[in-house]
Amino acid sequence: MGYIRSFSKVIIALAVLMNIYIYTYPSFSARECSWVTEKSLKREIINRDRGFFQRQVSDIPYFGDLFYQYYLKDEEQAANKLKPVRDIRLLAFGDPQINGNWPDTPYQKRLDNYGNDYYLGHIASVMRKRLQPTHISVMGDLFSSQWILDSEYFNRTRRFLTRLFPQPERHTEYVLDFINNHDHCDWMDYYEKTLNIPFDTLEYDYEDVYDWTNSSLTEPGEDALFINITGNHDVGYSGDITWQHMARYKKLFGKDNYWIEYNKNTSHAWRLVVLNTMALEGPPLVDRFLEETWDFVKRLDEREFNGSTVLITHIPFYKREGLCIDGPYTEYYDETSSEREPYKLGFLRAQNFISNESTQIIFNTIFKNGKPGMILTGHDHEGCENYFSKDIDTGVWIASKNITNPSRYIKEVTVRSMMGEYYGNTGLMTGIFNTEKQLWDFHYSVCPFQIQHVWWATKIVSIIAIFMKSLTYIFKNL
Ligand SMILES: *[C@@H]1O[C@H](CO)[C@@H](O)[C@H](O)[C@H]1NC(C)=O
Ligand SMILES: *[C@@H]1O[C@H](CO)[C@@H](O)[C@H](O)[C@H]1NC(C)=O
Ligand SMILES: *[C@@H]1O[C@H](CO)[C@@H](O)[C@H](O)[C@H]1NC(C)=O
Ligand SMILES: *[C@@H]1O[C@H](CO)[C@@H](O)[C@H](O)[C@H]1NC(C)=O
Ligand SMILES: *[C@@H]1O[C@H](CO)[C@@H](O)[C@H](O)[C@H]1NC(C)=O
Ligand SMILES: *[C@@H]1O[C@H](CO)[C@@H](O)[C@H](O)[C@H]1NC(C)=O
Ligand SMILES: *[C@@H]1O[C@H](CO)[C@@H](O)[C@H](O)[C@H]1NC(C)=O
Repeated sequence: MGYIRSFSKVIIALAVLMNIYIYTYPSFSARECSWVTEKSLKREIINRDRGFFQRQVSDIPYFGDLFYQYYLKDEEQAANKLKPVRDIRLLAFGDPQINGNWPDTPYQKRLDNYGNDYYLGHIASVMRKRLQPTHISVMGDLFSSQWILDSEYFNRTRRFLTRLFPQPERHTEYVLDFINNHDHCDWMDYYEKTLNIPFDTLEYDYEDVYDWTNSSLTEPGEDALFINITGNHDVGYSGDITWQHMARYKKLFGKDNYWIEYNKNTSHAWRLVVLNTMALEGPPLVDRFLEETWDFVKRLDEREFNGSTVLITHIPFYKREGLCIDGPYTEYYDETSSEREPYKLGFLRAQNFISNESTQIIFNTIFKNGKPGMILTGHDHEGCENYFSKDIDTGVWIASKNITNPSRYIKEVTVRSMMGEYYGNTGLMTGIFNTEKQLWDFHYSVCPFQIQHVWWATKIVSIIAIFMKSLTYIFKNL
């Protein structure tokens, strides 16, 4: 009995420690897992006018951050709300790529897939509670395959909305209602309705949106604005995108190309541009999707906008070999790869980067007003950060690890994946309006969690601990 009791004590202690760890992991990388603020920029994590004790505590690794989270954070958040120009606080989640089960999927893999949903959901929920973002963006590749049928697509969307990123009901009820009452999406209807509509009737523009379901919100509310992006596993590369792919994406996740302008006509104007890079280059299976994306680019070009731009898209822009794990790579369907679908011969099959030509056009369009900007992409899973500087002599945008033209550059971040193999990362982008320069400054950091096994082990140890506790309780009372 004594042996069991000691064992149970050890297990319970372990369960408590592991749970504390998985719920407070960001405090171990406090700097990477916190928004940049004016104070943190000046390396004054805590105000000078705070007492000696508070200053000492805040310098202790891990515990200092916990202290901040529990005792000082609310104050900081209240202060941000009172600032004349509130900070932009965007959480970026890279490529979750959730898998699905097939009739022949082994039991263990099914369990893996099930646990993985909650592992990813755990990361999203810890980070949201800790950071209260104004925007949340999933960088495309929500699912692991573009070849799944509608019913499976719906089922993954349901998992995405209920397990990974639960949101208030009013945000998701439309989508959940639809997928609960349909087993497919009527792409023929979408095809007939949109094939011939003139480009100038397409609407891409939004203004001051802080909540998709409540247009009366005039500043960030309790819930972050959720941004969806097309990835190759959601709609496919342009050689794969069919009307069916596009119809179901738009039905469940909204527009593929749009912008939202904030604080227009003020000194602190900025905008979010969401670009469907999956339908930017070809040769495509369906020309119409490329035509729409380029029409969107043209409309951006015509648009007067005197502010900063945060561009969000899936595929990173052109850069030479060696700057990221991925190098430039483009593949087209050839005789072998199109054997089962001969009609795809010659079409775009895969790409690591957007081509140099399109990269130049996009930069010269979206960032033409010369204001600071930032690009967030997904796709490569490993993560990568570069600066695109506009060469003074040639006017060509060139990627490099360093800023080569301090008066004209844009940072591009490839967000590291949130998948367990990559340690469950979250990207944090902060925009702070610099009142001296009258410009937005953008900052980015990556907050890692742990491989999924740590989360699994915590759940298993917790279950054993509960079991042991009940066992000792029962024996004591026998
Ligand atoms: C999707 O879920 C529904 C309800 O659970 C199920 O009946 C259906 O078979 C699932 N679809 C696939 C492709 O597994
Ligand atoms: C929408 O936002 C306004 C302003 O914050 C608020 O008063 C109202 O209750 C909100 N409506 C809903 C349906 O949430
Ligand atoms: C993004 O997708 C989620 C889930 O389907 C949905 O709730 C949300 O409204 C979508 N956003 C837009 C802009 O459609
Ligand atoms: C911004 O300025 C443009 C042109 O001066 C004007 O058409 C537009 O209505 C203004 N928008 C706002 C929100 O003030
Ligand atoms: C754009 O904004 C800057 C201030 O950030 C201002 O100096 C400039 O005149 C504006 N340009 C236009 C065309 O409104
Ligand atoms: C990229 O395109 C620009 C403009 O067309 C050209 O001047 C430049 O040499 C190209 N760079 C590379 C690496 O091909
Ligand atoms: C880029 O920056 C790194 C680190 O600051 C420095 O060592 C390197 O010399 C720089 N490279 C160029 C081409 O300026």
